[in-house]
Amino acid sequence: MGPASPSTSPQLTTPDQTRSTNKMAMAMAGRSSSTAVAVAVAVYAVALLVSTAWAAATPAKPAAGGAPSMPAGPLDIVLLGAKGDGKTDATQTIMKAWKNACAATGTQKIIIPAGNFLVGALELSGPCTSSIIIRLDGNLLGTGDLNAYKKNWIEVMHVDNFSINGHGTIDGQGPLVWEKNQCNKNYNCKILPNSLVLDYVNNATIRGITLKNAKFFHLNLFNCKTVLVENVQITAPGDSPNTDGIHMGDSEDVTIKSTTIGVGDDCISIGPGTKHVKIHGSHCGPGHGISVGSLGRYKDEKDVEDIQVTNCTIKGATNGLRIKSYEDSKSALRATRFVYDDVRMDNVSFPIVIDQKYCPNNICAKASGASKVVVADIVFKNIVGTSATPEAVTLNCANNVPCQGVQLVNVNLKYTGTNNKTMAVCHNALGKSVNVVKELACL
Ligand SMILES: *[C@@H]1O[C@H](CO)[C@@H](O)[C@H](O)[C@H]1NC(C)=O
Ligand SMILES: *[C@@H]1O[C@H](CO)[C@@H](O)[C@H](O)[C@H]1NC(C)=O
Ligand SMILES: *[C@@H]1O[C@H](CO)[C@@H](O)[C@H](O)[C@H]1NC(C)=O
Ligand SMILES: *[C@@H]1O[C@H](CO)[C@@H](O)[C@H](O)[C@H]1NC(C)=O
Ligand SMILES: *[C@@H]1O[C@H](CO)[C@@H](O)[C@H](O)[C@H]1NC(C)=O
Repeated sequence: MGPASPSTSPQLTTPDQTRSTNKMAMAMAGRSSSTAVAVAVAVYAVALLVSTAWAAATPAKPAAGGAPSMPAGPLDIVLLGAKGDGKTDATQTIMKAWKNACAATGTQKIIIPAGNFLVGALELSGPCTSSIIIRLDGNLLGTGDLNAYKKNWIEVMHVDNFSINGHGTIDGQGPLVWEKNQCNKNYNCKILPNSLVLDYVNNATIRGITLKNAKFFHLNLFNCKTVLVENVQITAPGDSPNTDGIHMGDSEDVTIKSTTIGVGDDCISIGPGTKHVKIHGSHCGPGHGISVGSLGRYKDEKDVEDIQVTNCTIKGATNGLRIKSYEDSKSALRATRFVYDDVRMDNVSFPIVIDQKYCPNNICAKASGASKVVVADIVFKNIVGTSATPEAVTLNCANNVPCQGVQLVNVNLKYTGTNNKTMAVCHNALGKSVNVVKELACL
């Protein structure tokens, strides 16, 4: 028997359905936001009193950005009493530094110096009156005690102008809890805490740091605008459950540059409602590739538009570049204007995949095969390298809405095994092939 096709292979169907569960949880976080704002305002008022008292005792110093600045209370977590011994809980000192920074003005820099800081849930809520930088040179260790979390681990909410940079690590300590992940058995599973979550954050930069062994996703963006991820390393074992590198949904203007991701699920996944994404000079593997979807699980999902993936490499991953939507999708949306250009594949099981009949755990066993998701204007250009299965190109589109405007340009992928030949498996896909090796030129 030949290798399973992408829509039936168990390794491809286990983890992905949980993404939408997660997205739902994120949406709930959004709904409770007025409470969060009220709490934040109260916290701000208290912090303002504290920092005013602090200001009276401390000479004013100009902010890093040069903007007029009201001085904050202490921002170095060690000065606030945190111990980098890997055992003493530093949650409260980090929360204190956040409140001090958030209540100040200008640009404020929270310092997490070298050391191992054990932390539980950090709810870093705004709105803030300052722009906040977290300088992370130490390691944050997520406690293995799941009672310490409501939902996520480090969650930044309703904040403008946020940055986290340095040489430090956000270590989810996933190995302590991965065995409690039931998502491969239960479709509506309880999700473990995501490591770094940005909800309703505008203008954020994440640079230089490492994210490691998340309990669930490493970085999750929900309803964010203008986010730059640069020179970030994301790492977890290839067989760790649902440890997506970067997931984003309902977000706009996201750039991922010079970033290396090797995880147990999608390296990068782009959910509904996301527009203007640029992924450049980055590396994926092991993992499940760079994915758009799954689309169409819920009603009222919004379009995915303008995605560019350029100058990237994908190595030893189960998929390379993939777009997937549920068979019998619940919402009508469009996935359009994607450009994949200059992507090198090295032993990737399914390098190019459009799957409009995605159906994990047979949830759509009685499906009609009809789709409401339009997939159009998708360019795969300069995609070269090797495929670990014969099926280097899979375009499995719906009968009622064929994929349109798909272009394969300079695509040269080779199956490296000896028992079979390189092939494209294409259904209902319209477009053109230009300068493509003949066995893959199915358009
Ligand atoms: C070659 O690979 C295809 C696609 O995976 C599969 O359907 C077919 O059975 C394989 N042929 C042989 C001879 O193994
Ligand atoms: C964010 O930056 C913009 C542009 O510099 C500035 O106008 C705005 O006041 C900043 N917001 C905060 C909360 O500092
Ligand atoms: C983004 O935030 C940075 C500070 O982190 C600030 O200097 C810059 O002006 C902001 N840009 C916009 C467009 O708000
Ligand atoms: C492509 O990405 C690599 C890193 O993988 C980088 O070294 C190189 O400069 C990039 N090339 C271009 C043209 O951006
Ligand atoms: C290619 O990938 C397959 C499947 O993941 C793996 O079994 C094989 O060892 C890999 N080959 C090389 C040369 O890395």
